[in-house]
Amino acid sequence: MTLSKVDWKTNEKLAVGKGATVQEFFATVGNDKLQIDVAPWGEGHLKVNGREIANIEDAKDRRQAFRELDKIATRYLAGQPLHSASKRKPSMIPAAKAKLLEGKKGLIVGIANENSIAWGCAKAFRAFGAEVAVTYLNDKAKKYVEPLARELESPIVMPLDVSVPGQMEAVFERISKEWGKLDFVVHSIAFSPKDTLQGRVVDVPRDGFLTTMDVSCWTFIRMAHLAEPLMKKGGTLFTMSYYGSQMVVKNYNIMGVAKAALECAVRYLAAELGPKGIRVHAISPGPLATRAVSGIPEFDALLDKAKAKAPARSLVSIDDVGVATAFLAHDAARLITGETLYVDGGYHIID
Ligand SMILES: NC(=O)c1ccc[n+]([C@@H]2O[C@H](COP(=O)([O-])OP(=O)(O)OC[C@H]3O[C@@H](n4cnc5c(N)ncnc54)[C@H](O)[C@@H]3O)[C@@H](O)[C@H]2O)c1
Repeated sequence: MTLSKVDWKTNEKLAVGKGATVQEFFATVGNDKLQIDVAPWGEGHLKVNGREIANIEDAKDRRQAFRELDKIATRYLAGQPLHSASKRKPSMIPAAKAKLLEGKKGLIVGIANENSIAWGCAKAFRAFGAEVAVTYLNDKAKKYVEPLARELESPIVMPLDVSVPGQMEAVFERISKEWGKLDFVVHSIAFSPKDTLQGRVVDVPRDGFLTTMDVSCWTFIRMAHLAEPLMKKGGTLFTMSYYGSQMVVKNYNIMGVAKAALECAVRYLAAELGPKGIRVHAISPGPLATRAVSGIPEFDALLDKAKAKAPARSLVSIDDVGVATAFLAHDAARLITGETLYVDGGYHIID
């Protein structure tokens, strides 16, 4: 392989055989430890100080993958954009001039894909300069979340299924070790088994009820518990609710009960943690076509109604929700707590 301006050393101990193995290259330049690994089928990664900054998925072979990653490493060392202009993808993170959340670090739970409300929040927090740790539900979800995490330049990307004992604790332990502090948490998850969600509240079975409450409400309380010791200088905790907590919304059923409990938990947590400078909010977005709503029948009708009735005559986007959430994390909002903030074009004020 042609070596470049960077003085790459291969891992001598690694069996490189007839090309069936991943080959690794290392270089130290100033304070930066660079590492490239390349696989025979043309996939490769470039890491700087243990953090992946670029990857190649579709090179012809290992040699071409190495060459591309080497060029990116050279650009990185020269302080240039990582990708040449012709290959640069438009960034998914909007440009915000004022880095209002610079220096803040937070955890965002609930990104499933590019439509997730949690992704809208992550983009906004990142655009304002915050660093974000993100989680993915399981191996199946990982491939959708990882590219988004790369876009966010997340230093911490971990699996988190809240129903698996120990996974939530592991995420907070890693944050404690790596950051030693936390400024915000966005809890943007909910779940109810289909038969529980789609039936009448009056018929809800106990196990379905417990699962719904556990995933959609208790986990927020637990995250607050785990975040408290890390928010030594205060912080903000967010969860996502919906209007169906206040009014009977057709087809929202048991999730309305869970969201009512969640909004109530927000108030108790806000009262308990307020003296420590920790603020707690529920954000209540108008309906959005995300994966979570696939279990709600006649959702299109809900969208049509929201658009027609909201004073703004508009549906909300995940970006609208993200920016409103990021605002509440700013120090300027330090005396706002215990709120349920509607981001719904004003729908909730109309009879
Ligand atoms: N979409 C809407 O119309 C709407 C409106 C108001 C509130 N909300 C709320 O917003 C939040 C996010 O939902 P969304 O609409 O972005 O949908 P989404 O499907 O993109 O996100 C839901 C997330 O919950 C996660 N989740 C489910 N079970 C989990 C578990 N056991 N462990 C860890 N994560 C788990 C999923 O992995 C997913 O990332 C939910 O609380 C939802 O109730 C949604």
